[in-house]
Amino acid sequence: MRPPQPSPVQVPRMVVLASGRGSNFQALIDGVADGRIHASIVRLITDNPGAYAIDRARKEGIPVSVLDYLVFQDRTAYESALFREIQDAGADLIILAGYMRLLGEPIVAAFSDRMINIHPALLPCFPGLHAQRQALEYGVKVAGCTVHFVTHEMDSGPIIAQRCVPVGEDDDEETLSERILREEHDCLVEAVALFCDGRLEVTGRRVRVR
Ligand code: GAR
Repeated sequence: MRPPQPSPVQVPRMVVLASGRGSNFQALIDGVADGRIHASIVRLITDNPGAYAIDRARKEGIPVSVLDYLVFQDRTAYESALFREIQDAGADLIILAGYMRLLGEPIVAAFSDRMINIHPALLPCFPGLHAQRQALEYGVKVAGCTVHFVTHEMDSGPIIAQRCVPVGEDDDEETLSERILREEHDCLVEAVALFCDGRLEVTGRRVRVR
């Protein structure tokens, strides 16, 4: 007779939302595979049928939901479908990994302190679109990325981790974006790993690592 097997350890079920290339999504896939992140990626949801993130998910056998924003009657219909997909996936945690839309109040409220976003700037500077371009136009000497919890205000929730990069005199949007992106991957994996290990404590705007 086989000896009793240890029951599998329950790890958080992570749903990733991505709109495009998906290199941050790939960093999460790799982080789970190499054991840095103790979670399972149970679904990729994208609003863009042409997103390269879809190919990355299929290669790994991760289920994909494509919710083409353009086929929905309005934002409310899109958001309801999105919420259903998230609930059907049994998500414990949502990661916005290059997801380029604002999320409505019902989803944000349901996943308070359980939804994480990565933004390519040192928040609170340069929220919104084209953060790297904003940083160059402002003339900052240091740029970077921020991983934060999502609240109802755009790019403004409690900050989990940040990374800095220098801005060179010859940088353009492309070179600066690449430099920041290299930091993003590690910063996101580190923050998600801490969350999944139950090591983040949120008090007001402060996030402490236990
Ligand atoms: C990343 O730079 C991410 O920080 C940014 O989009 C890019 C997605 O790249 N997100 C935002 O600007 C959200 N406000 P990826 O698809 O290769 O991960």
